[in-house]
Amino acid sequence: MLAFKTLVLWIHLTGIVLWIGGLCFYGLVFISMFGKGKSLPPGVPSLLARVLHRFIRYSKEIIGAIILSGVFNIINSGYGIGFQFSTNYMTLLAVKILFFLIILGIQIWFSIRLAPALAALAENSDEDNLPSFRSLRGKIIGSTVIVLILFAAAMFIGLYLRYL
Ligand code: HEM
Repeated sequence: MLAFKTLVLWIHLTGIVLWIGGLCFYGLVFISMFGKGKSLPPGVPSLLARVLHRFIRYSKEIIGAIILSGVFNIINSGYGIGFQFSTNYMTLLAVKILFFLIILGIQIWFSIRLAPALAALAENSDEDNLPSFRSLRGKIIGSTVIVLILFAAAMFIGLYLRYL
């Protein structure tokens, strides 16, 4: 049973590191490198759009693993106590799942709004696209900072739950 519990927590934490790590690398490191000069080097919007599209495609399985391992975490934690969770535990778990859903919402916004906008820029990358690229970049960086704050809070709650 211990090996199973450990495996589930391992999948849970590895999935979170890969997902949030990928979102933060794209939003805070990769896209912030571009758009500082007088023009966008040709091919940059297309590269950014393709990388975002590819990450979103891969992250679907990772998000599935986080949710599934989260559910198994609930079963593993509740099994020994007849699922008599304290109100405190349930409240904190609910807050953590809410933070997870907000991060997921931001990723869905990336995929249905920002990725197509980047791809549209790729179709027509010349001088006057710089302002719209900069506004897209600002939205991606800004929402990634929110992802980072929510992730840090969810991590803290996750560890705190262990000791409740
Ligand atoms: C951004 C999203 C998430 C983060 C950062 C996160 C983080 C964590 C961390 C750090 C732990 C503690 C691991 C340990 O004890 O060593 C944990 C445990 C847990 N997580 Fe998550 N998690 C996330 C999403 C979820 C979701 C979506 C669910 C439910 C579907 C979930 C349910 C749980 C449960 C039940 C535990 C076990 C708590 C206990 O020890 O009783 N988590 N999580």
